[in-house]
Amino acid sequence: MASTHAAHQVLVASNRGPVSYEVRGDGSLAAKRGGGGLVSGLSAIGPDAGALWVCSALSDGDREAVRRGAGEAGVRMLDIPAEVHADAYNGIANSVLWFVHHMLYQTPLEPVFDAEFRRQWGSYEAYNRAFAEALAEEAGEGAAVLVQDYHLCLVPGMLRELRPDLRIGHFSHTPWAPTEYFAMLPDDIRQQLVWGMLGADQLGFLTYRWAGAFMDCARGVGGEGHVEAGWPAGDPVKYLKHTRTGLAPQTTTRVTVHGLGADAEFLHARSHEADVEERMAALREEIGAGRKTIVRVDRTELSKNIVRGLLAYRQLLDDRPEWRERVVHVAFAYPSRQDLAVYRDYTAEVQRLAEEINSRYGTPGWTPVVLHVKDDFARSLAAYRLADVALVNPIRDGMNLVAKEVPVVSDEGCALVLSREAGAYQELGKDAIVVNPYDVLGTANALHEALTMPVEERAERTKRLAAAATALPPAQWFLEQLEALRG
Ligand code: F6P
Repeated sequence: MASTHAAHQVLVASNRGPVSYEVRGDGSLAAKRGGGGLVSGLSAIGPDAGALWVCSALSDGDREAVRRGAGEAGVRMLDIPAEVHADAYNGIANSVLWFVHHMLYQTPLEPVFDAEFRRQWGSYEAYNRAFAEALAEEAGEGAAVLVQDYHLCLVPGMLRELRPDLRIGHFSHTPWAPTEYFAMLPDDIRQQLVWGMLGADQLGFLTYRWAGAFMDCARGVGGEGHVEAGWPAGDPVKYLKHTRTGLAPQTTTRVTVHGLGADAEFLHARSHEADVEERMAALREEIGAGRKTIVRVDRTELSKNIVRGLLAYRQLLDDRPEWRERVVHVAFAYPSRQDLAVYRDYTAEVQRLAEEINSRYGTPGWTPVVLHVKDDFARSLAAYRLADVALVNPIRDGMNLVAKEVPVVSDEGCALVLSREAGAYQELGKDAIVVNPYDVLGTANALHEALTMPVEERAERTKRLAAAATALPPAQWFLEQLEALRG
């Protein structure tokens, strides 16, 4: 057990860590650092906090870094056997839990909870246990541990048993499933997930909607004991009181909401660097002079609804031919989870449909859809700056930071077409054009409305959207959770 700065020590646990490694041709290791809310958050607590980030080794480069003991200070990568990790991450986290929370199953045929599922579930337990044991080993007395996401739902309960002294928080970056949908999971699995999470002192969610859904799923879940929900009037913190049959006295888990916002300072600075300006010039060339742009930027996750976005754009060109030659749909669909066939198929469908639209409507001087599939953050920022319309139409999304980033970066104001199923809708809905993500005709009409929004109105709305989007920047988002956890 580490002893320094015990009660102030902070540990973060997540599947994907802040750094990844690649073995270069000459055998040396190249480290690549990631960004995002947790990275900014951890840097905000300062170097004296003794912060440690526990994560999985994901690639051969990561595993090599662990073997050589070459990892960065402040990061402990767990070299969980590759097949155990693949079952837990691809099999359970991304093919079951992600599907449940985003309601993605085609239920006449799936899910099928068979012997193979049970085998993979065993790996999910082993992978969660590896995290719990590493955290128990590393944490000083009374340290705060912030566990992230659906990959690690069992960690709070496992860690609580190993180290009752710790302050344990868990944060969900995804939606949480409605109780009827969650009930598709076998009862014992559902119970393990809920009781695993209830090992935490605090459970954080991005919106009240997802927090409420978890509380509904937890009440009366059965299994290890009894759970009751408390909804004190006017109190933003909700409580779940739970008693484990024949075991501990009643315990309370606080359920809190922290709506991660965009980092205005970083975005303003980064979006004016030379590489972004270069990409703006290249994009302008691809788009053509005098045309309006409908921009979308996503990782190609099944929940992002890129295909219906393209169908809505095609509908717009069909219904309102006056837009032909005058608008371009700039769609960035970056690779995600390509180990899964269903993701590869979805990516292929996005490409097929974009090509179909281009061959059906395109002219020698006009490409209706400009699709890029190679991740390029500078180009994303360039598109944000240029956008007349941003299309954010997920089927279901924990928050959706693109919806928050575009208004912050936009040069001249941008109309936001936003799905009511994105967490960001709670904060941005008032100044967005809101769509039902399944309604292709409705989305096509919303695109038209957005394209024809008067420039002054667009600029005014963008200002209000940017203010709402930056209300809780990453560093404060992280500190807020930490303060609440420490009580
Ligand atoms: O940021 C969205 C998100 O879905 C998180 O909830 C999750 O931690 C992460 O992406 C997982 O992405 P990947 O499977 O690429 O590691």
